[in-house]
Amino acid sequence: MTTSPLSTLPGVSTALLLLLLILVLKRTAPVWCSVPGTLGVNWGTCASQPLPPHKVVNLLKSNKIPRVKLPDANPDVLRALSGSGISVTLGIPDDLLPTLNSSLKSAEGWVHDNLTRYVPGVKIQYVAVGNDPFLSINGDRFHPFVLGAAINIQAALVRSNLASRVKVVVPCSYDSFQTESGLPSGGRFRLDINETVGRLLTFHSQHQSPLFASLSPFLSYHLGKNISLELVLFKGDAHPLNDSGATYINALDLSYDTLVSALIHAGFPQMEIVISQIGWPTDGAANATLLIAEDFMKGLVKHVGSNTGSPLRPKNPPVETYVQSLLDEDGRSVVLGNFERHWGLFTFDGQAKYDVDLGMGSEKLVNAHDVEYLPAKWCVVNSDKDLSNATTSAIGACSVADCSVLSPGGSCYGISWPGNVSYAFNSYFQQQDQRADSCYFGGLGLITKVDPSVGSCRFSVGLQTSSSTATTTTSITPCLMLAVSCFLVRILSFAIWKISP
Ligand SMILES: *[C@@H]1O[C@H](CO)[C@@H](O)[C@H](O)[C@H]1NC(C)=O
Ligand SMILES: *[C@@H]1O[C@H](CO)[C@@H](O)[C@H](O)[C@H]1NC(C)=O
Ligand SMILES: *[C@@H]1O[C@H](CO)[C@@H](O)[C@H](O)[C@H]1NC(C)=O
Ligand SMILES: *[C@@H]1O[C@H](CO)[C@@H](O)[C@H](O)[C@H]1NC(C)=O
Ligand SMILES: *[C@@H]1O[C@H](CO)[C@@H](O)[C@H](O)[C@H]1NC(C)=O
Ligand SMILES: *[C@@H]1O[C@H](CO)[C@@H](O)[C@H](O)[C@H]1NC(C)=O
Ligand SMILES: *[C@@H]1O[C@H](CO)[C@@H](O)[C@H](O)[C@H]1NC(C)=O
Ligand SMILES: *[C@@H]1O[C@H](CO)[C@@H](O)[C@H](O)[C@H]1NC(C)=O
Repeated sequence: MTTSPLSTLPGVSTALLLLLLILVLKRTAPVWCSVPGTLGVNWGTCASQPLPPHKVVNLLKSNKIPRVKLPDANPDVLRALSGSGISVTLGIPDDLLPTLNSSLKSAEGWVHDNLTRYVPGVKIQYVAVGNDPFLSINGDRFHPFVLGAAINIQAALVRSNLASRVKVVVPCSYDSFQTESGLPSGGRFRLDINETVGRLLTFHSQHQSPLFASLSPFLSYHLGKNISLELVLFKGDAHPLNDSGATYINALDLSYDTLVSALIHAGFPQMEIVISQIGWPTDGAANATLLIAEDFMKGLVKHVGSNTGSPLRPKNPPVETYVQSLLDEDGRSVVLGNFERHWGLFTFDGQAKYDVDLGMGSEKLVNAHDVEYLPAKWCVVNSDKDLSNATTSAIGACSVADCSVLSPGGSCYGISWPGNVSYAFNSYFQQQDQRADSCYFGGLGLITKVDPSVGSCRFSVGLQTSSSTATTTTSITPCLMLAVSCFLVRILSFAIWKISP
């Protein structure tokens, strides 16, 4: 029989072993065992060359991000998340709402096809009915269907025995509530959706689900809502804003309490809130810069980490906060502005845009590994040719590819003609996987191996996309095992904390 040297010292040994175990577990603590932080990210897949889902999941893991919100039930994404232990909010696109409202059968179909089959491998915590059904630019296209759809999805979950595990929520847009006085105490839900929201809140409280709402300090500032950059960047101490005895030193609390006031007015003062989207874009608009975004994220992380509430809810900070967003997406709609394609903490290829400690154990943003790029080739305009039609060709390219950085406020706005034509050509060329004929442009295009980037205007090289369709084999670790090991880590951590001086 072999005796460990430690076992010769009973008493000490147990504590020491525990300590060792904790140290080992802490070092290697997987993401599902990380501190119950309340931060998550939105992972959208509206990109022409999305990073392969399994690489994104690795990106989430190396950054110790414990929860994601998805806009839809993309099978590749859900398969990649299986066994990761990452909590998931699964979105239902707005377009599906009319069908889901009118038929319980279709709701059951959706749950069967898009949810049940991934459980328990994927830890689905919420189903978000609609992506942004209350957005005012959508008018009444979606919101009349949202409650009926939510009720049908809830019924479908009950029928699949999943209702105790998965909660149904409906995301409220940043403009679903507002304040006429400009002060939080004046917060009300928008008049045209007031009735729907009232019934929705009743539904939420019946099922004890939180209210998902996006807050947008960026848009408040961008749209000139009389708010200072100091307040927006969590640095309003010098010039606080006062409202009925409460003092506000950051724009997040201003928006949050505007929503709280709207909830109080609607008769649901206790309803818990999840911030479903909050972030700062880095391109495509004035003030959408790396520097401001970095400052904003640092302030946001610190605020969320401090776990303090707002003046109206000092003890009830948001239950969870989802950063908008994980990656840039060149296919997002630019109706609200070109900045829409630049919300990412990371560029489209998973490279960190700036340095921030998300406060979840990874001290800085960690880039995606093993990213597979297309060859180092670019498409530019051939200046030896007659360029009188070049602008027309560029406009054609931009109608398909992403040129959001070329307009005012964008990082390539400053490059002069025909540099901007080259940018447009290259954007199209990369999006088309560098196919030779996609750099033709009536003979004006020229493929080059010299990087045409100038200053902050980056001409990117696209990603290999064949790999994104390849199915990945991820093992489904039984949930029970995960739950038990997390539980043990917590218990042991707690014990150590109790006995340490
Ligand atoms: C939603 O579905 C219900 C039940 O089928 C129907 O009565 C109602 O008219 C639908 N709502 C809208 C806005 O069409
Ligand atoms: C499952 O989700 C996908 C994508 O969101 C959608 O296109 C499809 O219609 C859904 N399936 C059903 C049965 O609704
Ligand atoms: C803008 O805010 C300042 C200070 O918060 C306030 O004094 C001023 O009246 C506001 N202006 C408008 C037009 O609301
Ligand atoms: C708000 O109140 C604080 C302290 O009560 C005061 O120092 C500050 O000047 C006030 N701000 C405004 C805009 O009235
Ligand atoms: C809708 O407006 C009425 C009248 O102002 C108010 O009593 C009710 O609480 C509002 N409902 C919501 C959800 O804000
Ligand atoms: C944004 O940035 C520009 C240029 O730096 C500046 O002039 C402007 O005042 C800023 N604020 C807003 C709200 O656009
Ligand atoms: C420019 O386009 C016009 C109309 O398509 C065409 O007639 C003309 O020949 C083109 N010019 C050049 C230099 O290609
Ligand atoms: C490029 O710049 C020229 C001159 O400023 C402008 O007329 C043209 O519209 C720009 N093209 C694009 C694609 O931005």
